[in-house]
Amino acid sequence: MSLPEELRQIAITIAREAGAVVSRRSTEHLHPDTKSTATDVVTEVDRDTEKLIRQRLADLRPGDGMLGEEGTDDPGSTGVRWIVDPLDGTVNYLYGIGAYSVSIAAELDGQVVAGAVYDAATGVGYDGVRGGGSYRNGVRLACSDVTDLGHALLGTGFGYDAQVRADQGALIANVLPRVRDIRRIGSAALDMCWVAGGVLDAYFERGTHEWDRAAGLLIAEEAGARFAVIPENGRDLVVLAPPAIFDELFALVTPQN
Ligand code: IPD
Repeated sequence: MSLPEELRQIAITIAREAGAVVSRRSTEHLHPDTKSTATDVVTEVDRDTEKLIRQRLADLRPGDGMLGEEGTDDPGSTGVRWIVDPLDGTVNYLYGIGAYSVSIAAELDGQVVAGAVYDAATGVGYDGVRGGGSYRNGVRLACSDVTDLGHALLGTGFGYDAQVRADQGALIANVLPRVRDIRRIGSAALDMCWVAGGVLDAYFERGTHEWDRAAGLLIAEEAGARFAVIPENGRDLVVLAPPAIFDELFALVTPQN
C-alpha cells in the first residue's frame, strides 16, 4: 500500500471514531468559551476531540506532525503533518443543528495527499487520496457539470470578526443577484464535500483557515473541481467550482484583482 493510501485509511478510521464521540456527546449540556471574538465559540467537545485525535495519531504514526484548530502545532519529524479540525461547525453543534463534521487531512512534504471528512450528525464519510479520486461512503464522487454561473447553487460561510463579516456581506450583495441562490451550511468542510458530490455547485469564503479546508479541498479537487486559495492578511479567500464556471466565479468574488 502506498503511503498516501495508508494515510487515507488512517484519516478515515480516526475521523469516524472521533465523529462517533462527537455525535454521542451532542446532547450534553455544553459550557462554551469564546476564542478570537465573542461570536467565535469553542466547547469542551472541540478540545477533547482534538486531544483524542492527537493521541490516536501518535499511537498509529509516532513522529508525525499535527496542526489542530484547538492549539496543536507540532511540525513532527517524518515529513507527514496532519491538519485537523476536530469539530467543524461548532455553532451548529451548540444549537443542535445537524451539520457538523470532523476533518482530517495528511500533508506529505508540504502537499495534502489524503483526507477524510466525517459528517458526524448523519454518519456519512467523505474521503480522498491524491490521484486516486474521492468517495462518499465508498462511492466515487464527481462535482456538478453546471456551465452557467446563473444556474449555480453556491455555498459560503462567515468568519467571526466583525470587519470580515461586513466585507463578506458586501461581497454577497454583489454575488447573490448573479447566481441561482446561496446556502450558508455552517461547516466549511461539509460545504467542500458537497461541492465534491455536486450537492452544491460551488463555494467561496473569505477568512478560512488551513484546518477548515485541507481535507475538503483535496476531496473536491479529486472530484474534478478547481480551486484557488488567495491569502488576504491571514484571512484566506477560497474559491471552489467546477472548471466551466470557475473563472467567472473567481472574477466575481475578487473584484479588486
Ligand atoms: C467554521 C465553519 C463555518 C465557516 C467558518 C469556520 P468552526 O468552523 O466551518 O462554516 O464559515 O469560517 O471557522 O469554527 O465551526 O470550526
